[in-house]
Amino acid sequence: MTASELRNRVAAFDPSADLAHARTIPADWYTDPAFLELERKAVFHATWQAVGRTEQVAEPGAYFTADLAGLPVVVVRDDHGTLRAFANVCRHRAARVVCFEQGKASRFRCRYHGWTYDLQGRLRGVPEFDGVADFRREDNGLVELAAAVWGPLVFVHPQPAAAPPLEAFLDPLTKQTSATDLAALRFVERRVYELACNWKVFVDNYLDGGYHVLTIHPSLSGVLDYAGYHTVNAGLTSVQISPMRRPDAEREDASAADVRQGKAAYYWWVFPNLMLNIYQGVMDTNLVLPLAADRCRVVFDFYFAAEGETGTAAFQHRSITVGHQIQQEDVDICEDVQRGLASGRFEVGRYSVRRESGVHHFHRLLAERLRRAVGLDLGTA
Ligand code: FES
Ligand SMILES: [Fe+2]
Repeated sequence: MTASELRNRVAAFDPSADLAHARTIPADWYTDPAFLELERKAVFHATWQAVGRTEQVAEPGAYFTADLAGLPVVVVRDDHGTLRAFANVCRHRAARVVCFEQGKASRFRCRYHGWTYDLQGRLRGVPEFDGVADFRREDNGLVELAAAVWGPLVFVHPQPAAAPPLEAFLDPLTKQTSATDLAALRFVERRVYELACNWKVFVDNYLDGGYHVLTIHPSLSGVLDYAGYHTVNAGLTSVQISPMRRPDAEREDASAADVRQGKAAYYWWVFPNLMLNIYQGVMDTNLVLPLAADRCRVVFDFYFAAEGETGTAAFQHRSITVGHQIQQEDVDICEDVQRGLASGRFEVGRYSVRRESGVHHFHRLLAERLRRAVGLDLGTA
């Protein structure tokens, strides 16, 4: 696709239309690899991305690795206690320097030709490199990225010079949710799902304001008070808040009731790909990672308050089982949607004004970045 063709296709979505008049982003945004390429640069490598957990890098020398939409990353707590992130790409021949998922190290040694870097990313050991002209170790350290922590999560921004403060990026999540409370939750288990759909299909499904809860999730619909379910969009976030209720065990599926408790459920989303599902004493985070135009990976991390019933293995097991069941229901429908988008018989859709303001908010935020990346003016086309 030429640059001007891509520009035309980005321009096909009008971000200036209000919710009642707006059309969704077109089907080819979900199926064409050219869009994923554009999103990698303009979205995934230009935003704060949740890459891991604070407890993984508590001690000096502790590190973990991640793949940030094609950018290998290593995050480490250096010897002075500073959290750092680097492109996990050796300056010699581009091999991954750190190959383990997590661990502890005093130096990083590339397994290919043995170049070594200290925990501040400085190149220290360069075997058999005498006589190489105009080569300075100081210029060949690991490329540093921005790293920051909020509550239990570690974030990385691939462009340190362009990165806003993490607090500002996450606002108003940071004001409305206590990082300390979340940090007190204990990580218990990770589950990883691979879906045959574009990453945006999963995000759209998440943000539809409960529109699919009654139809797709019988167990969840038993505990959510659907009439009070509402969405608030602000900044780069959207939160769906639902009052909780007790299901009528005679008529309704009550399987989620004893593991989804409290007065309200909070479903936070942070542009572009992070979700935090928060109930009383229970949280799971979902991170959506693009693998190809029609494939994504969704990483679920389950956290629980240590005190009381939520701290017991039996509760956690039941709770994760309910989460897994709900995710299976979402996987099925998302893969179904991807087939429809790829069918050639779907161009654009409309939004429910009552329910789908979150999806619209997402599409606008996305379009804003893609338009800028292809050189379109903001606002009306
Ligand atoms: S690629 Fe790392 S030492 Fe050669
Ligand atoms: Fe769902």
